[in-house]
Amino acid sequence: MAKAPVRPDQLLPMEAEIEHSRLAEEIAGHDRRYHQEDAPTISDAGYDALRQRLNALEAAFPHLRSKVTEAVGAAPSGKFAKVRHAVPMLSLGNVFSVEEAAEFVARVRRFLDFPVERALAITAEPKIDGLSLSLRYENRKLVTAATRGDGAEGEDVTANIRAVMATTGIPETLPADAPEIAEVRGEIYLSHADFAAINARQMELGGKVFANPRNAAAGSLRQIDPKVTATRPLRFFAYAWGEMSEMPAVTQKGMVETFARWGFPTNPLMALCADANVLVAHYRLIERERPVIGYDIDGVVYKVNDLALQARLGFVARAPRWAVAHKFPAEKAVTRLNAIEIQVGRTGALTPVAKLEPITVGGVVVSNATLHNPDEIARLDVRIGDFVVIQRAGDVIPQVVEVVLDRRPDGTEPFEFPTLCPCALKTLVIREETSAGVEGAVRRCSGEFACPHQRVEHLKHFASRRAFDIEGLGDKQIAFFYDCSVEDLRIREPADIFTLEARNATSFQKIENFEGFGKQSVANLFSAINARREIALERFIFALGIRHVGETTAKILARAAGEWPAFEVIAKRIAAADGEAIAELQAIDQIGPSVTEALGEFFGRADAVAMVDRLVAELSILPAEKPRGESPVTGKTVVFTGSLEKMTRDEAKARAESLGAKVAGSVSKKTDLVIAGPGAGSKLDKATELGVKVISEDDWLALIGG
Ligand code: IVH
Repeated sequence: MAKAPVRPDQLLPMEAEIEHSRLAEEIAGHDRRYHQEDAPTISDAGYDALRQRLNALEAAFPHLRSKVTEAVGAAPSGKFAKVRHAVPMLSLGNVFSVEEAAEFVARVRRFLDFPVERALAITAEPKIDGLSLSLRYENRKLVTAATRGDGAEGEDVTANIRAVMATTGIPETLPADAPEIAEVRGEIYLSHADFAAINARQMELGGKVFANPRNAAAGSLRQIDPKVTATRPLRFFAYAWGEMSEMPAVTQKGMVETFARWGFPTNPLMALCADANVLVAHYRLIERERPVIGYDIDGVVYKVNDLALQARLGFVARAPRWAVAHKFPAEKAVTRLNAIEIQVGRTGALTPVAKLEPITVGGVVVSNATLHNPDEIARLDVRIGDFVVIQRAGDVIPQVVEVVLDRRPDGTEPFEFPTLCPCALKTLVIREETSAGVEGAVRRCSGEFACPHQRVEHLKHFASRRAFDIEGLGDKQIAFFYDCSVEDLRIREPADIFTLEARNATSFQKIENFEGFGKQSVANLFSAINARREIALERFIFALGIRHVGETTAKILARAAGEWPAFEVIAKRIAAADGEAIAELQAIDQIGPSVTEALGEFFGRADAVAMVDRLVAELSILPAEKPRGESPVTGKTVVFTGSLEKMTRDEAKARAESLGAKVAGSVSKKTDLVIAGPGAGSKLDKATELGVKVISEDDWLALIGG
């Protein structure tokens, strides 16, 4: 075993100086190999240990701090400027079967009210398993290349893209007839052959070996040094767009053909299909091509071809209603189940996790898989020691799907689900109905904020990308700060994140002296935290981690309340079982009893309210974003009743919402406008009774501009 290093404060100044200079040189070498040559020769943990020792020496002998060592600690990875997308970059909904694909087409037809005999052309093309990229051209010159990021804001990778123009085929300029502003979007990826060559070279150099082409493409694109990116033969397919000052075509296919004419690579396997059967036939064709296509694809994307219809269909949450990804079936493998571990989630739900003998599935090593809940364990009759079939699809958590019964070893016993929470409190586990009403499916720890597991998970959620998005405060760091050996530096609730810097300043022991941290990373962490003291209301509500309040619901609630104080008032009224407040929220489309109950429960708890108060004191919560552009119906609550003749009910609702109106299901004092078609009944009566303005469908269309 290696000898433990001498404590720095027991070294003579000269000894410290010698060790310091040797360490600084060694670290500088690792930095160069990591950042510039992308060929590290040390593990992350090994590197952190060197950095920690260097920091400890400097803490004991401050005069050793020099420019050289400041530079040694320079920003470790991926610090790119942020770019706000002019038009958000969205994701796609998924379907997993031919039936669901047909249902997608049927749904589009219903929404548009297309009878069977009316043609509806849909494109089908491979879904490339890479990273999406947005290329902005101004006056026909490339000005920015940005990653997707969270969809609203991505990272500026322009310099890196400029380094791979030749292999990607991305043009520097567009032809004279291209619009003044054109954002072309598509996928950056690596071919199988290039991926293998990169890994072979990495292996030779003792560098990082990538798990799959997608990771390798991401790693290559997000290099600090464009010279490293230049050595990676990245490729690109154009398939979508963002801002266009003028549309060069009126169909999906026409757009992609335009991109090809402008010089972009486009996928040769795109086809225009007349109906669901043709779509599925093309899906089968692409599936057959998959093994020989030369790059990773994970499904087929279907898109309504006519752009005017795309506009009518619009979006639901983060995905277009006019497109869907038909994913290929998940990959499977057989391995041994070594143990079942119980994890406690943010809301206390206990999830059994299968600890597996590691195995490669679809290019990724899997050692954990979810077993969902106790009923699933019972249904599968999965036992410790069994061989199990696991499957993994895309980025989702691998699942145990089946037990290989004829390989079951002797002496196994059915798994008994614990009746006490694995947390230190050993709280009783309660059976609960799922939202689908299945009794007993979920087991929950009854400890709430007293359960340390729930608190940690809650904090992880709070700092995560879609919530407060605090860079440098990932799951690992949260776990570290939660249990930090120095009490002054602990993070036990969200407010603690924002007091950490002040506490570190007065603490006897500093974060930078802990393993895995350095001066620069701590400075980065504090600046990331401080950058989030201003937070959008919808993110704030989502971050609170209230059950049933996901991202979409948080957005709806934020828009309805407008500002934090108004939200707090209504939430507290709901907690006090104020019927009017409950009805007011439930009148909002997509807000049902599960949400109001969860809000009431959360804001009815003194510990939760106190925690929120402490947090709010640290922040400035920005009012909800108004939907893009004001319209005559922005902020108005409208109710549709009777039959509509110019559009379907779904379309009317979607259109109203996209204009910033709230669509309610029933008429109340809060209703601003009722749109009544033929056959309107009780809602019309109620509106007349309350004196709410009633207009016809034609009046409505005139009001919103056709
Ligand atoms: S269309 C508004 N087409 O899939 C829809 N996306 O799950 C924009 N992707 O973020 C996306 N191949 O990175 C589209 N042929 C294709 C695609 C594709 C891969 C990726 C893309 C997107 C993700 C959504």
